[in-house]
Amino acid sequence: MITRRLLALAATSVLAALLAGASQGGGGTPGAPTAGDPYFPQSGDGGYHVVHYGLTLGYTPGTRNLTGTAQLTSTAAQDLSSFDLDLSGLTVSSVLVDGRPAAVRRDGVKLQITPAQTLPDGATFHTTVVYAGVPENVTDPDGSADGWIAQPDGSVFVAGEPQGAMTWFPTNGHPIDKSTYDISVTVPNGWTAVANGRLRFQCSIGGRTTFAWRESQPMAAYLATASIGRFQVSQYWTAGGLPVYTAVDPAEAAAAAPVLAQLPDVISWETTLFGRYPFDAAGAIVAHAPKIGYALETQTRPVYASAPDIDTLVHETAHQWYGDSVSLNRWKDIWLNEGFATYTEWLWDAQHGGPSTKQRFARDYALPATNELWSFPAGDPGSAAHLFATPPYERGAMVLQKLRETVGDPIFFLILRTWADDHRYGHGDTAQFVQLSAKLSGQNLDAMFATWLYGQGKPAQP
Ligand code: ARG
Ligand code: ZN
Repeated sequence: MITRRLLALAATSVLAALLAGASQGGGGTPGAPTAGDPYFPQSGDGGYHVVHYGLTLGYTPGTRNLTGTAQLTSTAAQDLSSFDLDLSGLTVSSVLVDGRPAAVRRDGVKLQITPAQTLPDGATFHTTVVYAGVPENVTDPDGSADGWIAQPDGSVFVAGEPQGAMTWFPTNGHPIDKSTYDISVTVPNGWTAVANGRLRFQCSIGGRTTFAWRESQPMAAYLATASIGRFQVSQYWTAGGLPVYTAVDPAEAAAAAPVLAQLPDVISWETTLFGRYPFDAAGAIVAHAPKIGYALETQTRPVYASAPDIDTLVHETAHQWYGDSVSLNRWKDIWLNEGFATYTEWLWDAQHGGPSTKQRFARDYALPATNELWSFPAGDPGSAAHLFATPPYERGAMVLQKLRETVGDPIFFLILRTWADDHRYGHGDTAQFVQLSAKLSGQNLDAMFATWLYGQGKPAQP
């Protein structure tokens, strides 16, 4: 009884002290202008969380001009006197916070916003940013183009991993912050704009057509897309009741058709392996963007720079579980995305007339110690320039094969399903995965992970 009362008193005085401190300090402090990721120190802001993005965009392929209104619903993670959004290029004409004009400063890719009033810790607030301009993609540390990538024919390939979301909307741009999205894009008639999730409506007025999309599960900003083309669209429901929307550039249509026809089978095959499909929509965007050397697992609807082969389709679909639903806390853990998606290709090939996963592992292991495969461990790329190099993909898959051989098939597949389940719509890191594997197998796997996930160079024994 006494203890309780003392605690209550103590709590009251702590609260009073906090309130006094807040008012004495002029009300809050600026959000840290970073999510704290050493690979991309400029990304994100630690002071608040974006719950929802409402993006209302207009695009004119002829001039490449984008107009945007971004309406963000956020919650403060501290008493917040100012905060940042990431935005690269583009001109901002106004910023409102809770309906009142806010002071704005630009410093590189950071848009620093100071609201008229401090936002108390835990408060929900609304930010509206009106902007326009000709978006320019960024160039990643590995030299690849990323973000809003206009093509010579007027179409646009939009893929934001790891940092390109800021080229087309203001964002708290690190995957630690996941949000739901409404993305509506208005384009001239004849063009189609394809984003994530379900198509809520499409309507044409005065020569322009609006496509309104909704992603209702949390999504990392880099997984958002709003790709534009003169697409051939097809819409159907899978036997399991999932709406599928595919958009294909006519130049890729013939090559894409037989592969895209397998999408429902790939989804249901992966569902039997990984547990229920995490999202309420599926599909594909097949662009004709010959200079882009990659595809991206944009949530619910991956983007492909050209007609994918079946392995790429299997890979991007696997990312819906590993990467999209279960996201990274920090980019260093990229093998949790790429190793899993690559191992899924191994599994698919093994069940469709290709080599066994054991043979795949042996083939990789046979590569000489000088091969790029052994240049760094899957679990520690060392720098942002190495995120999409061979080791996180191929050595990442080797780690999973090693784990499977160590714990046996039933436990291995239980680990994969439990990982997807435990962290669905959230985040997971390597330490948690290692821990889960040890827990479910009851084995000490430290030496195995030390060698195969973190070991430098080629391990002495396969
Ligand atoms: N996550 C993509 C994939 O493996 C690769 C993205 C590469 N992006 C880049 N900027 N290099 O399917
Ligand atoms: Zn991948």
